[in-house]
Order: sequence, then C-alpha cells, then structure tokens
Amino acid sequence: MPLTLRSNRSTLTQFLIEERRRYPNASGDFNALILDVALACKGIAKAVAFGELAGLGGNYAADTGGSVNVQGETQKKLDVLSNDVFMQRTEWAGNLAGMASEEMETPYQIPKQYPRGKYLIVFDPLDGSSNIDVNVSVGSIFSILRAPADVIDSGRDVVDADFFQPGSQQVAAGYALYGPTTQLVLTVGDGVNGFTLDPNLGEFMLTHQNMRIPEDTQEFAINASNARFWEAPVKRYVDECLAGKTGARGKDFNMRWIASMVAEAHRILMRGGVFLYPRDSKDPSKPGRLRLLYEANPVGMIMEQAGGRASTGEVPMMGVQPTSLHQRIGFVFGSKNEVERIERYHHEPAPAQFENPLFHERSLFRD
Ligand code: AHG
Ligand code: MN
Ligand code: MN
Repeated sequence: MPLTLRSNRSTLTQFLIEERRRYPNASGDFNALILDVALACKGIAKAVAFGELAGLGGNYAADTGGSVNVQGETQKKLDVLSNDVFMQRTEWAGNLAGMASEEMETPYQIPKQYPRGKYLIVFDPLDGSSNIDVNVSVGSIFSILRAPADVIDSGRDVVDADFFQPGSQQVAAGYALYGPTTQLVLTVGDGVNGFTLDPNLGEFMLTHQNMRIPEDTQEFAINASNARFWEAPVKRYVDECLAGKTGARGKDFNMRWIASMVAEAHRILMRGGVFLYPRDSKDPSKPGRLRLLYEANPVGMIMEQAGGRASTGEVPMMGVQPTSLHQRIGFVFGSKNEVERIERYHHEPAPAQFENPLFHERSLFRD
C-alpha cells in the first residue's frame, strides 16, 4: 500500500497551476476544463471497473434490438454512458463553446442555462470498446481546440466546420487509459506528462514526467487480417519486419495487436513501437479505420510532443485539413525512424514483388 499521504508527488491540479504560472495572463478557464475532463475520466474509470456488477456490460438497448452510432457501429452501454459523463462534467462551467463526439452525429450545443466559453472539445468517450466485455484495457481520448473568434464573440451555436482545424492547432490533447491502473496522459504543447489515479485519494498524481518515445523500435502493431487489402508500401514494410534478421532490416521484430488504439498508443509511449491502421482497399467508402478529429489528432499530438511521429502514412497528421466531423483516415504513429521509413516507402516506387495488381485496377489508391 503506497504511503499516499506522505508522497511529495504533484497532483494534476498542482501541475496545472504550476504550468499556468508561466502564463500570467491566463484566465484559468483552460485548467478548469482539464480538471473537469479528469473528473469525467474518473467517473468513467469507476463505471468500467464495476462493469457487469452495475449492469454495464453488453450492448446499449440490447433488449430493443441495439443502437447504432453515426459510424454504423453497435454502441455498448459503456459507450453511451461515457459520452454522457463527458458532456455532463464539462458543459456547465463556461469554458466550452461546444463539443463533438464519436457517439453524436452533430456537434453538441452548450445548454442555454450555462455560459459559453472559448474552447471546443472533441472526444472519443470510450476507445476500444469492443474490448469491454473481454476485460481488456479501454480508454477515453480528447482534443481541445480554440473556438473560432466569431463563435466566442457571438455565442452562436457551433457547426461542424468550427471543428475543422488541423491537429497543429490543438491547444491540448490527452487520453485516459482504464487498465490495471487508471492513467491520464496529457500534453498542453510542452511535452507529455502522465498521471496515475491514486485510488486512496481519488487524485491523478504525476508519475511519468516528460515522456519520450525511443526513436527506434523492434515492435510493430497492425491488424494483419487486413493484409490482402493493404497498399504496396505497407505490405513491404510488414513483410520486411516479418523477415526479421534474414531480411532487409537485419533484425527481428515483435508484433502486438490489442485492438484498443489508446492502449497501443500508451505502450508505444512507454517503450516505443509503431502502430499502423493504414488506408486500405477493404471498403473504398472508408479511407482508413480511425477517425481524424478525436483519435488521430489527439494521439498524434501526444506522439509528436513525446518525440515520436504521427502520419497518414504519407504526410504528417498534424497538417491535415479536416473536411468532416467523423472523417476517417489512415494512421501510422510511434517511433520516429520507423514512421519516417513507412512514409518513405509511400513515396518511393515499391520493389516489384510488393506491387499488387489489385491496386493498379483501383485508381482510388493510385496517383
Ligand atoms: P472505438 O472503440 O472507439 O470504435 O475504436 C476502436 C478502434 C481502435 O481502438 C482499434 O485500434 C481499432 O478500432 C480496432 O480495429 P479492428 O477491429 O479492425 O482490429
Ligand atoms: Mn475509438
Ligand atoms: Mn469509441
């Protein structure tokens, strides 16, 4: 049992206040928003931990035939609950001009009884939720943007386009991971710091200061069941990893796939690695599996702030101009040298053996 009360670790609150001292003109709204987000994550962590004991396993509205979100995916009870917790904990304080979530087709307007503020939040309330019923780690991901000036000035309702800001404009990004411990990982654009929830105090304590991703790795993560749909550069990269010592890379690789992107991001942050959910030809209406605004951008900002790299496979993720709220995109992130190699493979002609005739026929995947 840790001697919590004698610990001299910073709490999240203390960390934020100390950060804020560097900006004497800051209003404190931002810190208040992060603390509300942290409280939402504590609530979700509890709900996840109680699971079926609180009747929270399984699909939402299972008895009435289930409910499907805007992504066409079946919602779990915990998806819906986590979304509500996020909204309820952040809508009241006057820090937000609006929000958007994986679980809501259109932006959520701050109810009239509350003041409106200068930030926007976009979130995936529960990432990896297909893992809920098998008791594997899941998490919440969030991205904080500044609201456009006319939204702040007029207090008008927000529209989709207000959220169409490239990742480079994020004010902050983070995730909470509900694993053996609950951790909150946060960047405010000045490195990445990790906090562990102290169950005795109910406080996030600073446990991982200035997290850095090793530039090289021998570990990769990809859903190999999609191999026949991959583009040539991805196929080449993975084949070279699999060839190990005997192939072009001259070293053996290890592979992981949790199917919980937030958990993979955390592993990579802790010990390096590369994650790929690339654009593929599986469903031409979906240019990738993961979503730009509330998965790729926040995780991408964390990667870059920790010295890693985040990419579409071809170009830096942080430079992508969003065009729709639930836009999907190919996502490659992690150890810098590996991500750069994958980008290079996309830009140079593939060796003949990786040229798949499938991709010649599909002009969508060719210049
Ligand atoms: P979500 O649960 O928010 O819909 O996201 C799930 C995502 C991501 O966490 C994971 O990496 C990926 O879906 C798993 O995809 P596969 O089922 O293709 O492995
Ligand atoms: Mn997700
Ligand atoms: Mn989700």
